[in-house]
Amino acid sequence: MRTRSPICSATFTLTILILLVLGAVNTRTASATDSDIDQRINSLIEQMTLEEKLGQLTQQWGGESQDINPGAQKRQLDDLLGVARVGAVGSFLGAYGAEYTNKLQRAAVEESRLKIPLIIGNDVIHGYRTVFPVPLAESATWDPELVELSARVAATEARAGGTHWTFAPMIDVSRDARWGRIVETAGEDPYFSSVMAAARVRGFQGKSLKDKDAVAACAKHFVAYGAGEGGRDYNTVDISDQTLRDIHMPPFAAAVDAGVASIMSAFNEINGTPATANRYTIDKILRGELGFNGFIVSDWTSITEMINHGLARDAADAAQQAIRAGVDMDMCSFSYRDHLDDMVKNGSLSKEIVDRAVRRVLRAKFDLGLFDNPYADPALETKVTLADEHRTAARRVAAKSMVLLKNENGLLPLADGVKTIALVGPMVDNNHDPLGTWSLNGKDEDVVTVLAGMKKRAQAAGMKVLHAKGCDFAKEDAEALKQAVQIAKQADVVLAFVGEYEMSTGEAHSKADLDLPAPQLALIKAVMAANKKTAVVLMTGRPLTIPFLVENAPAILAAWHPGVECGNAVADVLFGDENPAARLPVTWPRHVGQIPIYYNHKKTGRPPNDTRYTSKYIDQPWTPQFPFGYGLSYTTFEYSDLEVEPTSATVADTLTVTVKVTNTGSRDGDEVIQLYVRDLIGSVTRPVKELKAFERVSIGAGATKTVTFEVPCNQLGFHNAESKYVVEPGAFKVFVGPNAAEGLEADFEIGSAE
Ligand code: BGC
Repeated sequence: MRTRSPICSATFTLTILILLVLGAVNTRTASATDSDIDQRINSLIEQMTLEEKLGQLTQQWGGESQDINPGAQKRQLDDLLGVARVGAVGSFLGAYGAEYTNKLQRAAVEESRLKIPLIIGNDVIHGYRTVFPVPLAESATWDPELVELSARVAATEARAGGTHWTFAPMIDVSRDARWGRIVETAGEDPYFSSVMAAARVRGFQGKSLKDKDAVAACAKHFVAYGAGEGGRDYNTVDISDQTLRDIHMPPFAAAVDAGVASIMSAFNEINGTPATANRYTIDKILRGELGFNGFIVSDWTSITEMINHGLARDAADAAQQAIRAGVDMDMCSFSYRDHLDDMVKNGSLSKEIVDRAVRRVLRAKFDLGLFDNPYADPALETKVTLADEHRTAARRVAAKSMVLLKNENGLLPLADGVKTIALVGPMVDNNHDPLGTWSLNGKDEDVVTVLAGMKKRAQAAGMKVLHAKGCDFAKEDAEALKQAVQIAKQADVVLAFVGEYEMSTGEAHSKADLDLPAPQLALIKAVMAANKKTAVVLMTGRPLTIPFLVENAPAILAAWHPGVECGNAVADVLFGDENPAARLPVTWPRHVGQIPIYYNHKKTGRPPNDTRYTSKYIDQPWTPQFPFGYGLSYTTFEYSDLEVEPTSATVADTLTVTVKVTNTGSRDGDEVIQLYVRDLIGSVTRPVKELKAFERVSIGAGATKTVTFEVPCNQLGFHNAESKYVVEPGAFKVFVGPNAAEGLEADFEIGSAE
């Protein structure tokens, strides 16, 4: 047997000790308990029948029956308990609440042969019972700490309610507001989405997955799901390897680096191979290059959908392709449970491939501490669900997520002289739609409506509130419109709360028309004719095309779907208790025909200008309505003294970029300072700008802050024609400013390493 030399061994031990002291050793690979766990997993695998193994790889719907007939309810529960008892299922989704999930867990832990606990997964996307703003809105805070806080609160409530695993964060990059699921993303930028992805993983998973307030995260949807053609959900993705790796992969790399426990394979195909059987993306990139060693779950029936894709002959064929590619758990298609046993028995699929998947799933259950603590605690559930401090956090995040798009003559915040305000629109007295999509545990009764929140705050300010709905989301109402116009005439300021109802964004809710529905536009026009001082509050899950409003309404606030604290948060911003500082995480189009429109586009050989043969439209500007990163404040900021050091760098260097930012107004406020880079010449063409750093900074009225960014040059690379990550020597520009279209600029160069 070969032994390590004493010197080597001493050095090795010393190194380990130092790393342990520094807390830098990944406990998952180094601790003694880890090998105990491996042994326990091995011993379980030895004892498991093939059926039990495939059970562990199967996830099925485990929700409570919605049938009003008690007999039917009992039958459904008995069925679920039955599959858990015989070990035919490893995970349920759709099961909520400590009491109910404990019932299911008991069948697995106390009555099944090997007593393997269930892992209960759910879509805890932007809050559990305390619903926070939709993810796109949370991202608009440009504040990873707030995004992490939201995930922390969600994890605390979810785990107490028996959920061990959330199908979040959704970290698909989207350049297409037609896609309904843009609402679940962090927008269009790979770097920005990476920062938010890591923040959400940290928030969900907390310090240890074993903690009572942590859930395993699941980064989804792997990969490039946001690039579906035409903005249609589930649609074909055909992109270059450079776009795949430089745009869609980085958030997954960030999630893996943050220790994400699981990843979900996407519905779409990528360049001819569905994501769920894509060995190039799963095996080569995710497992091989990014080093992901957690488990992978399919999306809902995405395995058997490979029959529709035309990749698999039947469910058996689909199942073997998926498991071979490395998808460990089947969500709801039952193809593993129903078909893999024959293949293993007849030798066409090796037992090791099944065992590999089982091992990963069991590992997650051990990491979550489920073998020791399988049950939820109903007392803890009561204590933490919708706790006051959770609502306070939801209000804070919501207020900080609202983007001020226009504010002519300082119409907002509501000034002291205002005596009467008129609230119009379908969002005012509405306790449902502000929750937004994927608010499965959210309850309408928890929502502070716009009307309630505004009334409370107006009362404190001695203002009178009038209210008229004016119209429905997509239906005119002549009488309601008349009332709205009447109150608009009586008021000093009109606030129109318009937008999208909750179900008009989200999964399977893509749109070909992004205009504000006609009845709502008509309402705004009518109240504006009665009272020019009309501010529009847009409550949506995506950018809408609103050129008329941008041209004519004096003020516009994008308030998104803000969650349970809607009315309070909106009042915080409109009354100026909160100075808005949120910024757009997506480019805002003027017209749907401009899509895909995004800031980090390529230059083309004929960049658009006013001459004829350049890249543009003859009927619309080529520029967006609002650029990526855009948003106003109740105060103003000025940038000066941009400096970059060194101006001649090597790939190993870190650039220090400093800029002075002055609050030139009379209110304290936050500014989101954004740093972009352009690589002027590349071996493949480079985007006109790429976000590389940002920071939301509070600056007092009249004060100046010097903000410093450290930008490692090795982060300024891209994948070349051979799909190799390279940082190429040459000239670069750095831009620092308030959005992707404005800012100061400076030059630097990266020399070759020699
Ligand atoms: C969605 C996933 C979700 C899953 C479970 C699918 O339709 O694409 O994002 O996690 O359903 O609800």
